[in-house]
Amino acid sequence: MSRQRAAVILAAGQGTRMKSRTPKVLHKVGGRTMVDWAIDTAQAQGCARIVVVVGTHSPEVRAHVEARLGAGAIAVQDQPLGTGHAVRAAQAALAGFEGDVVVSYADAPLVRPETIARLFALRDAGAGIAVLGFEADDPTGYGRLLLDESGVLTRIVEHKDATDAERAVRLCNSGVLAADCAVLFSLLSMVRNDNAKGEYYLTDVVGLGRSSGFSARVATALEAEVLGCNSRVELAQAEAAFQARARRAAMDGGATLIDPNTVYFSWDTRIGQDVTVEPGVFFGPGVVVEDGATVRAWSHLEGARVGPEASVGPFVRLRPGADLARKVKIGNFVEIKNATFAEAAQASHLTYVGDADVGARANLGCGTITCNYDGFDKYRTVIGEDAFIGSDTALVAPVTVGARAFTGSGSVITKDVPADALAVARGRQKEVEGWAAAFRARKAAEKAARKAKP
Ligand code: UD1
Ligand code: MG
Repeated sequence: MSRQRAAVILAAGQGTRMKSRTPKVLHKVGGRTMVDWAIDTAQAQGCARIVVVVGTHSPEVRAHVEARLGAGAIAVQDQPLGTGHAVRAAQAALAGFEGDVVVSYADAPLVRPETIARLFALRDAGAGIAVLGFEADDPTGYGRLLLDESGVLTRIVEHKDATDAERAVRLCNSGVLAADCAVLFSLLSMVRNDNAKGEYYLTDVVGLGRSSGFSARVATALEAEVLGCNSRVELAQAEAAFQARARRAAMDGGATLIDPNTVYFSWDTRIGQDVTVEPGVFFGPGVVVEDGATVRAWSHLEGARVGPEASVGPFVRLRPGADLARKVKIGNFVEIKNATFAEAAQASHLTYVGDADVGARANLGCGTITCNYDGFDKYRTVIGEDAFIGSDTALVAPVTVGARAFTGSGSVITKDVPADALAVARGRQKEVEGWAAAFRARKAAEKAARKAKP
């Protein structure tokens, strides 16, 4: 990379069509806000400086970006006077920067870093301005890219300003472009708003650049990649496109998805090789599934690690902090939160494990419950290696069960259990000989007497 790179991400639109109290660019695709997608893409392209242009109407966007990139990454556009005006708002934040700037929209989360790289490649090949275009199915509303015979981009005309002949052009502007920073701002200073919308169009820099001797070139992407999300319907379309991409990536990486369309990924899901994912699985953010593991049907995972050759599900819920080592086996209707399972530990049925450390090869019987919460604080349960927790044991934390110890079924364990011991904490059983037979006889007689009454 010869020149330095910076990014300007436009996020000052109102997003009214989303019909939401949440600003548009904070809506999520694949569990990641759209503005974070745009920032990720810029960072993946080595943009050292990133400026997000926000409006005064959405302090939440500003706070969100500041928390990630710091106050220096914020530029405020006080009034939405057009995309050119919005980029100019970033000028002060880029003071002193020398190199290329890529401009993109915060509501187009699917634009890939590889695609941005193609714009930088055009710049490296001598293009003054590099524009990302696409062939629109229905070009209505988009800016049209007007090329000369040699493929040079001469001008971008906005739909509202276009003649019928220009509107017949299907090659459209995605909104992403790259140019030298100083050139871009000098061209922007010449942009006027004497057009159909009365706005300062960023797109005018192409025609102005041509008059100043800067040639413009176009790289193209598929429409699906540059899709902007302005409404819930478009958000769902972007989500579907993301899921298709993530499913393919998981399979390309060597995972088997038995029914890919029923498996949902997050932006950061990591799936190893020879992993099998059965139908109906949802991966929330922060999940790692290591090589050879199996995630069985109808499971929900977030913030969790499934170790190599481990098996979870069907019907498992792994919540944040669930960390399962190699060959752990978790069966149906088990919930695990903030708990570690060491190698080959098992909980096969109907169990809740929260705030716990389970030792290697320990076995948690059906219906084991860690009672980790007293309404105010959380407490930890520690289960030693090779321990055997009898079915329906309640472990009242803080409590430790030593290595190789047993707990009797139905026990409520409130005190630490030493290693190799058995702890039983339940009512003692007694048998009353003949009680059931006597009870039956008495009840049957009472019933017969009632029926006999007139
Ligand atoms: C823009 C492009 C058009 C392109 C289309 C692709 C211009 C003049 N037109 O049109 O060529 O085909 O996008 O979707 O650039 N924004 C601000 N401040 C503003 C105005 C806009 O931050 O004052 C942001 C919006 O939040 C949005 C983006 O810029 O993310 C595009 O704005 P929008 O009004 O949707 O532009 P279009 O008219 O669709
Ligand atoms: Mg638009």
